[in-house]
Amino acid sequence: MKGIILSGGTGTRLQPLTKVTSKQLLPVHDRPMIMYPLQTLLLAGIKDILVIVAPDHAGDYMKLLGSGRELGCRITYEIQDKPEGLAQAFIIGEDFIDNDSVCMILGDNIFEDDFSDTIKQFKSGGHVFAKKVPDPERFGVVKFNDQMEAVQIEEKPKSFLSDYAITGLYIYDRRVVEAAKQVKPSNRGELEITELHNWYLKRGELQVSIVKGEWIDAGTFESLFRAAELMRKKHLK
Ligand code: DAU
Repeated sequence: MKGIILSGGTGTRLQPLTKVTSKQLLPVHDRPMIMYPLQTLLLAGIKDILVIVAPDHAGDYMKLLGSGRELGCRITYEIQDKPEGLAQAFIIGEDFIDNDSVCMILGDNIFEDDFSDTIKQFKSGGHVFAKKVPDPERFGVVKFNDQMEAVQIEEKPKSFLSDYAITGLYIYDRRVVEAAKQVKPSNRGELEITELHNWYLKRGELQVSIVKGEWIDAGTFESLFRAAELMRKKHLK
């Protein structure tokens, strides 16, 4: 299993903080934000990691993470020239993924859960993770049937679909590269990751599990503060 951390984008929602640095390098309690998703991959036993960054701050990521040797992994880097959507990461990462499965995590997503069992047991298809939230309209949303099987997935639905947001951790087999190449830009001009979930869902090959612990998408001032608070509390324990 290979790992990708998608850490590009412009961070417009966090300006002026992000005028001088990348969102995913902002401090969350005692370390830069990206160290948390990196920890999630390392905890799951993933040792070969591609970090995809925007051109402006690539050097800062290299300064922070280097070759990965000190962290016990191998880190390589790719530039995403423009933030053209989450699904583009699999096109950028095609050579890196090669014939393996891949676990992608967003550089601003912070999880408490340990995904190592799921990742070790993964064989094929897609596996994504959902969490009940009070503001589902901000996210990709999944609707379940009575057996808690996923039946519908939509990106930022305009009318209420369900309370379950799809979090920023995705496991796919190597077919994801071909699936990503088939995705057409959405109305907001992005290759949406939701299209990839649906590619697997319509083939009956998408598993959706529930995240048990805390999950924070630290992309707003409010959630950035909550993330720091959560990590500080864990540190004090
Ligand atoms: O956080 C989970 C949500 O992430 C999912 O529920 C949604 O399905 C998914 O589309 C995404 O929604 P966001 O509205 O949070 O996406 P955003 O554009 O904020 O991008 C998420 C992160 O990925 C952000 O840290 C910036 C980075 N990014 C984004 C894009 C569009 C890139 O590195 N490259 C990109 O092209």
